[in-house]
Amino acid sequence: MAATDLERFSNEEKRNLSLGGHVGFDSLPDQLVSKSVTQGFSFNILCVGETGIGKSTLMNTLFNTTFETEEASHYESVVRLRPRTYDLQESNVHLKLTIVDAVGFGDQINKDESYRPIVEYIDTQFENYLQEELKIRRSLFNYHDTRIHVCLYFITPTGHSLKSLDLVTMKKLDSKVNIIPIIAKADTISKSELHKFKIKIMSELVSNGVQIYQFPTDDEAVAEINSVMNAHLPFAVVGSTEEVKVGNKLVRARQYPWGVVQVENESHCDFVKLREMLIRVNMEDLREQTHTRHYELYRRCKLEEMGFKDTDPDSQPFSLQETYETKRKEFLSELQRKEEEMRQMFVNKVKETEAELKEKERELHEKFEHLKRIHQEEKRKVEEKRRELEEEMNAFNRRKVAVETLQSQSLQATSQQPLKKDKDRKNFFSLPSACSITSGRYVN
Ligand code: GTP
Ligand code: MG
Repeated sequence: MAATDLERFSNEEKRNLSLGGHVGFDSLPDQLVSKSVTQGFSFNILCVGETGIGKSTLMNTLFNTTFETEEASHYESVVRLRPRTYDLQESNVHLKLTIVDAVGFGDQINKDESYRPIVEYIDTQFENYLQEELKIRRSLFNYHDTRIHVCLYFITPTGHSLKSLDLVTMKKLDSKVNIIPIIAKADTISKSELHKFKIKIMSELVSNGVQIYQFPTDDEAVAEINSVMNAHLPFAVVGSTEEVKVGNKLVRARQYPWGVVQVENESHCDFVKLREMLIRVNMEDLREQTHTRHYELYRRCKLEEMGFKDTDPDSQPFSLQETYETKRKEFLSELQRKEEEMRQMFVNKVKETEAELKEKERELHEKFEHLKRIHQEEKRKVEEKRRELEEEMNAFNRRKVAVETLQSQSLQATSQQPLKKDKDRKNFFSLPSACSITSGRYVN
């Protein structure tokens, strides 16, 4: 069906009809209330302010109870977010209240990064919610929503101006959370100074483009009070859990040697205004703004980051299915490209390694040949030496044999000498007369 047809059809369908009698859907708001009451509510407050500024005291005063308090030291190396959840009940309404303290805020020498853990904490809560929303089986109905609904920003009552840390932090937070700035320990500043301080703070916030939460004026029932209260921002508050007797009534107050500061006295401080605005009038708006403005912005940015969009480049509606298909195709082609790249890399690597191995093999072969040559040379030399030695040995043996022969001959000769003389003598006597005796005894 074309869009114009659809429009005409829906316009035609929307006709005012009167009912003949009571039907019962006028009970829908009551059903809604009853359902909400049964389900209970959650409300999450983030307290940002320097250590000891009165955060815990103010929370105790606001909810008229004593929450767990743990004093922070001034030696935290980084800002740490500490959430604590409580179940509160008033009449039949259950409130799951989470108070998150930015512990150690403003205590570091270098405060450049002080805002970062706070921003990260807020984003993490949005992310958790988004993940739950994107689940196939989601259970948002009983999901503990931890998204921060309001940030009470505690300003130190210096009477001068905002510190740069305040401006930077509020600027970083203003698109993520509803900020209500409050001047803490307002009993430590005089009335005229407070008046000037408030004006100064507001003008600094405006000139630095910091968006603080504005109490809504679109609902007639609360428009008047909200617009009056908007003009009182930032609220100057005093906190105390101490009860002091004023007249014949016990009231929460701070007692000083010169008098009593009553927490709930509107001429003493803006505590009542804060409680009215934060809890009694605008709690639901704070929750709604968190969902429709801050979370929506986070979700949009996140989904766009993931590649989802409502329209294509020609501003034509682009369905989730189409986005998914496009993304899938992009992903698959990217995967293929990566696979090819890796395969090529692998082939190159194998080739490189192969070449390296071949080079190594060649080097080894050369080395082997070289060693072989050396070995052969050595072998040849040894052979030569052996031959020389053999020759020497042969010559020596020959000499030895000759000497031995000579020796034996001479020995033989020496042993045969007397025998010869005897023989000679015998021969002499047996010799013919032609022989003559030379010795003189015998003459032939
Ligand atoms: P950490 O959690 O340790 O950062 O401190 P905090 O900001 O929670 O401050 P806490 O409420 O513990 O108060 C610190 C001191 O300030 C206590 O002695 C309180 O009595 C005092 N104090 C709290 N609120 C006020 C106030 O409105 N005026 C004055 N004059 N003192 C206050
Ligand atoms: Mg505290």
